[in-house]
Amino acid sequence: MRLLIVGAGGMLGSDVVAEAQRRGHDLVALEGRTALDITNLNDVKACLAVNRPETVINCAAWTNVDGAESEPEAAWRLNALGAAHLAAACAETNSWLLQISTDFVFDGTKGSAYHEFDPVNPQSVYGASKEAGERLVRQCLPSRHMIARTSFLYGKQGKNLVDTIVRAAKSRPSLTFVEDQLISPTSTVDLARVLLDLATDPLPGTYHVANAGQCSLLEFARFIVAEAGLSTPVLATTFAEYVATAKPAASRPQVSPLERRMLALRGMDTMPDWKDALKAYLVP
Ligand SMILES: NC(=O)c1ccc[n+]([C@@H]2O[C@H](COP(=O)([O-])OP(=O)(O)OC[C@H]3O[C@@H](n4cnc5c(N)ncnc54)[C@H](OP(=O)(O)O)[C@@H]3O)[C@@H](O)[C@H]2O)c1
Repeated sequence: MRLLIVGAGGMLGSDVVAEAQRRGHDLVALEGRTALDITNLNDVKACLAVNRPETVINCAAWTNVDGAESEPEAAWRLNALGAAHLAAACAETNSWLLQISTDFVFDGTKGSAYHEFDPVNPQSVYGASKEAGERLVRQCLPSRHMIARTSFLYGKQGKNLVDTIVRAAKSRPSLTFVEDQLISPTSTVDLARVLLDLATDPLPGTYHVANAGQCSLLEFARFIVAEAGLSTPVLATTFAEYVATAKPAASRPQVSPLERRMLALRGMDTMPDWKDALKAYLVP
């Protein structure tokens, strides 16, 4: 399959490239905005017209959640308009578009895991811009799009919370994490595998793709510290206390694990449990 990967130098993009290479696909990997700036419609159309991919995987995004609150225009330009540009260009070349999205399209008040057919209600600039990107992709490319929502990524490329926790546990007497914020932490290696399964066997729609199970941030941090062979105590705080003291610029969903209903319905749910995924990541 001829694949074009945008944002190929990012945390997810680099593992999508590795998985595509492992499977022997014919690959055009565009690492970042200097290779192709997806906010420029003419450049996007010209790039697809030359490369004529069967499928485009869009791993490019504005991912600075708090920073988006002070730079909303830049976040919207990349996450909403950039996605629309790719979809419009795919319409001209008869390509599929696999667009990556986020659990931040939900408000986190459902109280349990979200499936693909739950109503969205983003609470931040990042979440709203990603949700607008989803809608534009559906509108511009109704019969050849897939939207893969994922959550709380960690991978070898760039910075992630897993490495931050290990580093902090080595240097601090104790750590504190939220006990009532629930997530589906996800390995970019596992996600990349399922994204390529979807690209190979496409069916239009929205898919939740996260590691199986769910945990609180406190459980997540304690598991990482233990797996790293450390004994640093990890203390509990509440979501409300965290918001009151840290005052993050952007609102975050308090409970936003992802149920993989569409993958299950299609018999394609091969996502490992979050603990197994973390163990694989933390192997020295
Ligand atoms: N990270 C998470 O925890 C998380 C959670 C849920 C969903 N997601 C979603 O997963 C996807 C991948 O996230 P990630 O964390 O892997 O992202 P990332 O590491 O921040 O990488 C983003 C990529 O986008 C590229 N990029 C930035 N501006 C661009 C532009 N104008 N044109 C083309 N490329 C551009 C960046 O390259 P340059 O900077 O070199 O241009 C980089 O390669 C995103 O859709 C994100 O919303 C992430």
